[in-house]
Parts: sequence; structure tokens; C-alpha cells
Amino acid sequence: MSVIELGSGPGFVMEKVMQAFPNGRVTGLEIDPLLVDYSRNYLTQKHSDRFEIVAGSIMETGLPSDSYDFAITRLVLEHLPDPVGAVREVARLLKPGGRAVFIDNDFEMHIMTTPHVPELRELYDAYCAARYAEGGNPKIGRELPTVLKQGGLGKIDFEVIGAHSELLGYEMFLKSEGVGIPVQLVRDGYLSSKALGKLSVAWRNMLNTEGHSILRQLYMAVGEKSV
Ligand SMILES: C[S@@+](CC[C@H](N)C(=O)[O-])C[C@H]1O[C@@H](n2cnc3c(N)ncnc32)[C@H](O)[C@@H]1O
Repeated sequence: MSVIELGSGPGFVMEKVMQAFPNGRVTGLEIDPLLVDYSRNYLTQKHSDRFEIVAGSIMETGLPSDSYDFAITRLVLEHLPDPVGAVREVARLLKPGGRAVFIDNDFEMHIMTTPHVPELRELYDAYCAARYAEGGNPKIGRELPTVLKQGGLGKIDFEVIGAHSELLGYEMFLKSEGVGIPVQLVRDGYLSSKALGKLSVAWRNMLNTEGHSILRQLYMAVGEKSV
């Protein structure tokens, strides 16, 4: 398998791909120079000769056509003003018969908790406003099958993936739902510090309630390049 991850960030997904395909080569493409350096260092320590990181944009990768069996693009399309253009470029990179999977959020249906934390809605509305202002689409999850079709892929399939704390434990939720993004939203004027304070208290109360749980959804679509 020759695999590419577009918007590979710190390289954690690439690492999992290399574990899943012990004989495969993996290419990561990343636009942020800091993350290009970070992922190169991180992966060199573990998988010295089975990967490469290319600096560039998913919109125009400069990589050769018809080169990859499988492409992964996770949590990237939601940030882009032209997601269909990005899918078109990923499709160009695939070999005929190759498949591409795209995984994104939809902030209408994001974290859901027991007991319910209504304050999360205010946080997600603030997050959506910030992403829309940048030209992204934080509710792209529901649109993925259409975006893939418009980008030229066929044989499309779609799943909503649920991660549940009862089955997976809490650690990953607490890691991924840190205070970094909420604090930035307060700094940028999308969320009041009062709302963030209320949310912090409600979140802590939820975690202290017996029988509490967290559900997080992700939206995943796969498509194939025609032969
Ligand atoms: C939320 S992170 C996801 C990282 C990784 N895919 C993962 O799932 O762990 C989004 C990544 O996409 C990168 N990115 C954003 N726009 C991009 C573009 N036009 N081309 C390539 N990468 C881009 C960001 O720099 C960031 O590393």
C-alpha cells in the first residue's frame, strides 16, 4: 500500500497507519512549517525509513497524479473555503481504483453528555462563528457524501462514528476537549469569559455525577477513483 495523509499535523495518524500497514510507505502533506518539523522529528524516532513529510497545501500538492492506493484527510476539509477543490486534488493523486477517506466534525452534533451540559451549545456556536469567519465550514460532516461526489469520487459510503466514554474510558475525551480552544474563543471575542466560567462549572459537575458519560461523533465518508 502507498498511503498519503493530507493535513497530517503532528503525525499521530500517520503513526497509526504505519502500525496498521507494517510493509506500507506513508506520505504526509502539511501546510504548517512548525508541524512539518515536529512530525518529522516525532516519526523519525519511531519509523525512520517508512515515511516522508512534504510541505504544501492540499489545494495544490505538486505531487504526481495516480500515485497512491489510499488517502486519509482528517479534520481538514472543515477548515477550507473550497473543500470540493481539495477533494478534486486528492482524487487526482489516487491510482485508478484507489480510495480516499475524509473524516470531519459537524458541530450541530458534537459532544453529548449525561447529564446534559446545555452550556456546550454556547461554546459550539462560538466555535462555529469563528470557523465561518475564517471561510471554513464547521458543519461539513453532513455534507461529506455530496462534497466527495462533487470532487469526482464514486462508490461513496458514509458513516457517523461514535466514541463513547463507557467503552473507551475518559482520558481521550479530556485530552481532546482541553481549554486551549475555548480560551482562544474568549480572546478573539466569540465567547464571553462568563460563559466559559459557567461551562467549566457545568462540565466539572457532569464529571462528578454518578453514571455520567460522554459521546463524541465524527463523520466519515469514503470514495473511489474510477478505473
Ligand atoms: C485539526 S488538524 C488535524 C491533523 C491530523 N489530520 C489529525 O487528524 O490528527 C488540521 C491540520 O490540517 C492542516 N491544514 C490546514 N489547511 C491545510 C491545507 N490547505 N493544506 C494542508 N494542510 C492543511 C493544519 O495545519 C493542521 O495540521
